[in-house]
Amino acid sequence: MDYREKAKELVQQMTLEEKIGMIHGEQLFQTAGVPRLEIPPLKMSDGPMGVRHEFEPAQWKTIGYSDDYVTYLPCNSALAATWNRRLAYEMGEVLGEEARGRGKDVILAPGINIKRSPLCGRNFEYFSEDPYLTKELAAPFVEGVQSCDVAACVKHFALNNQETNRLIVDVEIEEKALRDIYLPAFYDTLIKAKSHSVMGAYNKIRGEHCCQSKYLLEDILRKEWGYDGVVISDWGAVHDTELAANSQLDIEMSVTYDFDQYFMAEPLREKIEKGEIAEEQVDEKVINILVLMMRLHMLGGERKAGAYNTPIHRQRALETARESVVLLKNEKKRLPLKAENVRKLLVIGENAECIHSNGGGSAEIKALYEITPLMGIKTLLGGNTQVHYVKGYCRDEASKESDVNWQEDSLKGEAEKEEDSQKSASKISKGLAEKRKCLRDEAVVLAKEYEQVILIGGLNHEQDSEGNDRSDMKLPYEQDLLIQEVLKTNPDTTVVMTGGSPVEMGEWLSMAHTLVWGWYGGMEGGTALAEVLFGRVNPSGKLPETFYKKHTDCSAHALGEFPGEEKGDYKVHYKESIFVGYRYNDTFEVEPEFCFGHGLSYTEFSYGNARAERVENGVNVFCTITNEGTRKGAESAQVYVTPLHKSKDEPFQELRGFEKVELEPQEAKEVCIFAENVTGEKDIEIRIGSSSRDIRQVVKLAKW
Ligand code: BGC
Repeated sequence: MDYREKAKELVQQMTLEEKIGMIHGEQLFQTAGVPRLEIPPLKMSDGPMGVRHEFEPAQWKTIGYSDDYVTYLPCNSALAATWNRRLAYEMGEVLGEEARGRGKDVILAPGINIKRSPLCGRNFEYFSEDPYLTKELAAPFVEGVQSCDVAACVKHFALNNQETNRLIVDVEIEEKALRDIYLPAFYDTLIKAKSHSVMGAYNKIRGEHCCQSKYLLEDILRKEWGYDGVVISDWGAVHDTELAANSQLDIEMSVTYDFDQYFMAEPLREKIEKGEIAEEQVDEKVINILVLMMRLHMLGGERKAGAYNTPIHRQRALETARESVVLLKNEKKRLPLKAENVRKLLVIGENAECIHSNGGGSAEIKALYEITPLMGIKTLLGGNTQVHYVKGYCRDEASKESDVNWQEDSLKGEAEKEEDSQKSASKISKGLAEKRKCLRDEAVVLAKEYEQVILIGGLNHEQDSEGNDRSDMKLPYEQDLLIQEVLKTNPDTTVVMTGGSPVEMGEWLSMAHTLVWGWYGGMEGGTALAEVLFGRVNPSGKLPETFYKKHTDCSAHALGEFPGEEKGDYKVHYKESIFVGYRYNDTFEVEPEFCFGHGLSYTEFSYGNARAERVENGVNVFCTITNEGTRKGAESAQVYVTPLHKSKDEPFQELRGFEKVELEPQEAKEVCIFAENVTGEKDIEIRIGSSSRDIRQVVKLAKW
């Protein structure tokens, strides 16, 4: 008998109360099981960078166990910067194995929303501004997770592209943009990679809340795509018993403790008993949940045990971190630094020693350890180099403290949040400006004395954080001033930025010869960064998103709306349509600071002999790539497609394929890159290059 048939039989043996128990949270991260029928509860956990620590079942309070420290993985933006499908699978596998090792059934990851604006506070949890790159990496990630008998829960379906007013914002979007930009990665992860579950988003689409949306959940997800997995609500994203019960949502989760009062709990039971809602609606949901349980071998059969904190997991986190580092600028070829020649080194900047794993919102975890950049540098250099560290800048410690868990407060309206933030702003410590000036002066004086200086700044989870968007891309804590002054004093300073989203660099970029971008690199992020700086690893990361000069150069701001109406219907109109990320900048000729796909290496690659061959559903593009230098390296060759006679609503070019190739010095390899969705309806130009704006070979194809 197949799973669905078996599930139908089981449902017939269940009471209404038992069924209702399975479709809503009876703890913050768990539904009820049916012990009588040996059906276990469903145990869930965040999140994308590792398995989150344990909470009290009915309180947003960390229990404080000593056994829930885990492997801390690079954030999804970092993973996307590797452009490496194998690593994406392996990261998923690590996460799945750790989740299973911690006894979980559903891991609430990966986050795959498209980065519509660089200001979105959760961008670090997401992959890219590009649907193709996102799906190419998110799909293997899901397969990796699920190879461990754990369900992935792809989130947040759909259009969860901002945090401001996230519970009520109502997205107005053209169908084409929805289909071409925002849905493809969901289709691939849910249908092709068969993610066992999906999380509905908080926001609305065209007036309907996503978790109750007929259009999204029924018309598209179930009917059009034929999805047969479980739809779980975001925590507190359900608003109406009838709408939710009659929608294709299967499980309601929330942040409050009155579990029996959830919309799909007692209120639903009452309505069913009164005959206002059909019991079959609940049966359908329970069947989906039981099928998921069978797929994970939760109802019998052999189930993998998983494992967490294994040396292999740490090794994999390190490999991904290494490939995620992006060398943005190396003008005088000052990088890599030579470890042997460095006797004295000055490291400046709070991000050199900042711990990030414990922040960001629901993606926070208790990392087994976290190698900071400073620790990475020191362990690499050893005892013969004197490393002097100064902070250079600092955040405001006083604004941080709060007794309440943010998630407990997360259903609060923006007005209340604003009040809270004003309260904490009023706490901003006195003398902060003075303190920052002292730190800056100290750093500048030292920068003059040291020949070798590395400045490590950027963002932290005060900016890259769930529940809030940034208001611009400026560096916080007066870092611009610090970087300028240090560069004036010591122009050879190596500048390193770490963070989850791009920052404005205009005030000092022309003064810096070297610039490295480091993301939130996971527990071995600092090791990887040091290895890149000192040449143990040749960088191969490429930007998975446009680094704008300022946020107003991004289409959501230039053409569209962000964050949309601040009252009334809270509409946000995605007027930029499909012109998201580089699709806008390339079409409308808006110069970015660093373009999509950009990333340098310590060696040089040349491209030659490009040709294209038509195959089913696309084109195979062949190209010979040669490592012209003396160091081994890896190159992500990218294929963009441009229509030759472009209509107004078509972007200048779109990424359709890529392959990462590793080459020994002087080695040449012919790579075959499959460019998908090339249908032959139009004359096109196939552009092959090292970034979206560094195109090395062009092949024209007449329509066929
Ligand atoms: C987030 C989800 C997360 C859930 C549970 C929500 O606030 O949007 O991504 O999985 O909380 O912590």
